[in-house]
Amino acid sequence: MTTTSGPQVDPGHLAFWALPQQERAAAFAALRRLDAPRWVPFRNRMPFTPTDDGFLAVVRHAHVVEATRAADLFGNAPTAASLYDVPPWLSRYLGSMINMDGPAHARMRKVVARRFSPRLLARLTDGIQQRAARIVDDVIAHGPGDFVAQVAQRLPVEVICDLLGIPERHHALVAHHGTTLVGFSDPEYTGIRREYLLRHGAPGPQHVLPGSLRIVRAGHALVTLVGRLGRERLRDPRDDLITTLVHADADGERLTPREVGTLFVLLVLAGSETTRATIAHALSLLTAHPEQRELLLEDLDGRVGGAVEEVVRHASPVIQFRRTATRDGDLAGHPVRAGQKVLLFYCSANRDEDVFADPDRFDITRSPNPHLGFGGPGPHFCLGANLARLEATTMLRELYTRLPGIRAVGEPEMLLSNFTHGVKRMRFAV
Ligand code: HEM
Repeated sequence: MTTTSGPQVDPGHLAFWALPQQERAAAFAALRRLDAPRWVPFRNRMPFTPTDDGFLAVVRHAHVVEATRAADLFGNAPTAASLYDVPPWLSRYLGSMINMDGPAHARMRKVVARRFSPRLLARLTDGIQQRAARIVDDVIAHGPGDFVAQVAQRLPVEVICDLLGIPERHHALVAHHGTTLVGFSDPEYTGIRREYLLRHGAPGPQHVLPGSLRIVRAGHALVTLVGRLGRERLRDPRDDLITTLVHADADGERLTPREVGTLFVLLVLAGSETTRATIAHALSLLTAHPEQRELLLEDLDGRVGGAVEEVVRHASPVIQFRRTATRDGDLAGHPVRAGQKVLLFYCSANRDEDVFADPDRFDITRSPNPHLGFGGPGPHFCLGANLARLEATTMLRELYTRLPGIRAVGEPEMLLSNFTHGVKRMRFAV
């Protein structure tokens, strides 16, 4: 087993993620000062857990990049989206390509990436602009309340649904199930007492069945909705992504309606919940740093792109993704055993002082900004990074053009999660 001495930090334990942001940042800074990735003992209390020993916490920028590049040694299967072991059928059902490796992943990624082309993004631009404008119209008409519900959550869900051709009447359902999926360890969405989660660090064995049922029900509702639309589009093609995915491309490649359904779960989780967090963190950070807000307002068009990159770096909406060692090997010169869990802490890599000057400072003019908020180089780099950038820059431009005095009020209510740095609610004023 890989061990290093150093501070006792447990970034797998939910109590760690309830600590103030500065304390967590200081803990990761201490881990980065160690000469090797740290082995963190972790008692996975899930009943189907085959191993109970812990995970390797990869916290430096260079080490995360090394791991994402070595995809044959550090695999996304059986699950990349969960620190807790889940049955393989469930991780594939809910995670689609994010939990796959090798040829199965390459095939799925190729089929989807072709349709996620810059040409498609260019076609979406006007629609995103109109959606953002309507969201601001509604804020002006109804007055500010909760920024997440009124603004941050709306745009990403509407964009994903527009992209796939999901009718407006299903949008609220998609938002609801997305929140359930991403909130799998938050008291509000699980019904588990906060004190329990903070004491034990994770849901307990007695919560697994009801928790799994809740997650499966939410995922199944999304798979069923999109699978049904996929079958309809096979018979009756439309101008949307579901249609192009279920019909063969130039190479004869296509997805089955069910594969499109499981892909949709991933798009909702990896795409809309993360973009929602980015837009919410943007308002929070720009409120907390008025001099950065002034800089942005001085040259909105010129600086909004850099501001979004810096929000993704500083807030790191995705805390970590997991890898599992496919065989014995090494990472940063330290041995790793086959089957060991390796957690890539993107949030820590994004504050690595070897790469970013004054890394805790929020600076929208930071350049270059080689953050790993969308993942490291390798086969799983975020497929929707450019879409996320387009959505976030459009939303911020619209907000700060029409409501330049917009600001967050009070502290945001954060999601309790060791996976997503999510914002549940945030009051705002204009
Ligand atoms: C700011 C918003 C976003 C952030 C921070 C983000 C972050 C990430 C990260 C860190 C990964 C790498 C996973 C890994 O290491 O295994 C990833 C993968 C992925 N993202 Fe994003 N993402 C965002 C928005 C989006 C959007 C808008 C979409 C699509 C609509 C999307 C679709 C995907 C997909 C499909 C993958 C899996 C790719 C694969 O396994 O080959 N993401 N994302």
